[in-house]
Amino acid sequence: MKIYIGSDHAGFDLKERIKRLFEGKFEIVDVGTDSSESVDYPDFAHPVAEGVLKETDGVGVLICGTGNGMAMTANKHAGIRAALCWSPEIAALAKQHNNANILVLPARFISYETAVETVNAFFNAVFEGGRHQRRIEKINL
Ligand code: RB5
Repeated sequence: MKIYIGSDHAGFDLKERIKRLFEGKFEIVDVGTDSSESVDYPDFAHPVAEGVLKETDGVGVLICGTGNGMAMTANKHAGIRAALCWSPEIAALAKQHNNANILVLPARFISYETAVETVNAFFNAVFEGGRHQRRIEKINL
């Protein structure tokens, strides 16, 4: 599986640490940013969304300070379901019920330990389909 990952400056440190969790397990496409120098989150959210949409069952991780800018931007792409998650429970439900294809983390409002648990919960969860499939089919305009 290929994971597209991106962050702005606020999410850079967490991105680098989360990437290490994936090494050796998944192919990682890191679209940046590459430092803690101030940048604009849409410049990283769009490439991750585009990458995810190119793949069959593509998946991405986006990280900014609150997660909101990344989620708002990625969700402009039809077919992207970017979920802002700050706990393992929310992350599991984002996959089980919403079939989220991008996990968004709020770097300034989550501990590293909780972020790891949140990432693991997201990647271990399975979409339940059924009534949830009907609902996600109603999302796109
Ligand atoms: C950057 O200061 C901050 O605005 C950004 O990381 C994010 O929280 C935006 O949604």
